[in-house]
Amino acid sequence: MVPCVAPGGLGSCTNTRGKCKKGIRFEGGFVSRIPTGSGAPRLATLIDTRPVGVFALPQRLIVAITGASGAIFGIRILETLARDKSIETHLVVSPAGRATIAQETEWQPRDVEALASVVHPPANIGASIASGSFETLGMIVAPCSIKTLSAVANCYSSDLVARAADVQLKEGRPVVLMVRETPLHKGHLRLMSEAADHGAVIFPPVPAFYGRPKTLDDMVNATVGRALARVGIRNELYFEWLGMKNPNGPAE
Ligand SMILES: Cc1cc2nc3c(=O)[nH]c(=O)nc-3n(C[C@H](O)[C@H](O)[C@H](O)COP(=O)(O)O)c2cc1C
Repeated sequence: MVPCVAPGGLGSCTNTRGKCKKGIRFEGGFVSRIPTGSGAPRLATLIDTRPVGVFALPQRLIVAITGASGAIFGIRILETLARDKSIETHLVVSPAGRATIAQETEWQPRDVEALASVVHPPANIGASIASGSFETLGMIVAPCSIKTLSAVANCYSSDLVARAADVQLKEGRPVVLMVRETPLHKGHLRLMSEAADHGAVIFPPVPAFYGRPKTLDDMVNATVGRALARVGIRNELYFEWLGMKNPNGPAE
């Protein structure tokens, strides 16, 4: 006999087959051997009514900066999240990413790393973010080189960037690849298609002009804002399009 947990249920239920008389399935019930007075074990279906720990996903985001042009996109993500502090950032910078940070920006790689909550060396394939059991909101590779795109598309996890991306994809979490190269040959397009087949979001940092950006910063912010929104992080770096205001626009 087991306690009846059907809504409004009273007393006990003798059912042992996974469905009680009130039609309630015994989700989470388990079968246990309970010693009887005669010493012979008998099977009883028990419902474990003890409270279980149920928590929201930890607010962690993996950010990778690889060696494509556009290191500022990864830096702006880190700057934004460092100000807010409600998201724990896990940063990996590839060796080529370190070179492009120095080449393209006024930042030193160590100052970029200081923006992150946790920094992982790219060779550390045993890092927390290399396992699916380490829960995250997902990953943004900003920018993403063709080399790293190829690694993700082919599940070739020889460094932590590719491994962490592969792990997020197998767990069904968003992986945003800010792939940057131009022009693109068919091999690049094929890799993008293959990565998209695995679940990656192909997100080239292509500016939009309908928001009337005035500075390079405006363009970077809009792109970063949309990428953060794509992994579920609401932000005010971009504006929401509420429809065409231009009276000379095309008639509806
Ligand atoms: C200044 C600079 C700019 C580069 N821009 C790009 C680029 O836009 N796209 C790309 O795929 N590779 C670019 N590369 C080449 C990559 O850095 C190179 O392929 C590297 O091996 C990528 O390695 P990673 O993916 O491990 O960072 C650039 C290299 C340098 C030095």
